[in-house]
Amino acid sequence: MRVRPAGPDDIATLLALDPIAARSVDRARSIAQWVGAGWCSAAEIDGALAGYAVVHPHFFGRNFLEMLMVAPAFRRRGIGRALLVRALDAQPGAILWTSTNQSNAPMRNLLAQFGFTRMGVIEGLDEGDPELIFRSGV
Ligand SMILES: CC(C)(COP(=O)(O)OP(=O)(O)OC[C@H]1O[C@@H](n2cnc3c(N)ncnc32)[C@H](O)[C@@H]1OP(=O)(O)O)[C@@H](O)C(=O)NCCC(=O)NCCS
Repeated sequence: MRVRPAGPDDIATLLALDPIAARSVDRARSIAQWVGAGWCSAAEIDGALAGYAVVHPHFFGRNFLEMLMVAPAFRRRGIGRALLVRALDAQPGAILWTSTNQSNAPMRNLLAQFGFTRMGVIEGLDEGDPELIFRSGV
């Protein structure tokens, strides 16, 4: 497996591996914007894209992991972990902010493995499922 920057030629494959993109124009548009901005890294296994991560610098001027997505067929093989390692390695002081829904046990477990600390909560984005804010390196 290798993690590398995603480029314009990857967009169609990223759209295909992301189950949300198939039903959400917003997600499809976001993927194109993330790649265009140079914020997207892709995980590749034997030449096939299996997942991607997006880190942008616009969370109160801090770097924020906006998206971590592994294609359903490739989950539980360490790809999310590899993408997160690469994202952290790219941060000064390995400090990275992120968020996830309270209900997202896979992401919360992954963040716990890396020692992310819960820093806050935002109510009202998804009804009945608060958005939890985390920071690495605390
Ligand atoms: C969250 C996600 C990226 C994890 O990717 P993955 O490649 O399957 O994860 P890994 O194989 O690297 O697993 C790393 C750790 O994550 C946790 N984890 C992953 N999937 C899990 C699951 N289904 N249930 C519980 N914990 C899980 C575990 O702690 C796991 O470590 P372990 O295998 O030693 O138990 C993946 O489930 C995904 O793409 N989900 C949909 C998108 C999403 O919700 N992204 C997060 C918000 S942006």
